[in-house]
Amino acid sequence: MNQAACAIRRINENEIDNVVNINRECLPENYSRFFFTQMYKAFPQYFLIAEDKGEIAGYIMARTELSPTFLKFIKKLHIISIAVLPKHRRRGIATGLMETVEERAVKQGVEKIFLEVRVTNYPAIQLYKKLGYKITNILKGYYRDGEDAYLMEKEINPEKNLDHAMDARQTEIKEPTNAYLV
Ligand SMILES: CC(C)(COP(=O)(O)OP(=O)(O)OC[C@H]1O[C@@H](n2cnc3c(N)ncnc32)[C@H](O)[C@@H]1OP(=O)(O)O)[C@@H](O)C(=O)NCCC(=O)NCCS
Repeated sequence: MNQAACAIRRINENEIDNVVNINRECLPENYSRFFFTQMYKAFPQYFLIAEDKGEIAGYIMARTELSPTFLKFIKKLHIISIAVLPKHRRRGIATGLMETVEERAVKQGVEKIFLEVRVTNYPAIQLYKKLGYKITNILKGYYRDGEDAYLMEKEINPEKNLDHAMDARQTEIKEPTNAYLV
């Protein structure tokens, strides 16, 4: 990424409208402003923007969730939404946003990161593959318009999980994210 021009940082509440607009410009189905605000309040450490000369060029929004396995619950990071404005693409901005939330998640004891992506969204699938995500399932009719999603996952090396400070409030999430599409 062009580090000199672009900074990645936490979003401020008064910048949520900018992100709502980027989401509407870049994606065919959109979350409500209410949902973005809820995410900002619950998971501010995973709601980041990339800023280029005062302009918000892209954002990422993610949250932690607890998932049952045979023996225990594991903490996962769910990438809910990421987008970069067309004029800022192919500069490594999405890569920088993904890597920044991944670093934060590793420090908080996350063992797996996952996301859903439209099966036709070639740029995003390429991005995730490049970052080490693997397609692990097809979610039939996941999107409102009926398109299928790939479930893509990345295992995190538990050796790197240094700080397991858990915030229970931030891990008790059960509702599916597509319930908030407008
Ligand atoms: C997907 C998206 C976030 C990528 O943002 P970006 O900042 O351009 O991505 P990067 O510059 O970090 O690209 C990293 C890698 O992803 C892949 N990639 C990104 N865009 C690509 C494209 N149009 N075609 C093929 N591969 C692409 C490449 O491997 C790229 O590495 P390279 O440039 O060295 O070849 C952006 O295209 C976007 O906002 N799309 C619309 C919203 C969206 O689909 N979000 C994901 C929903 S799941």
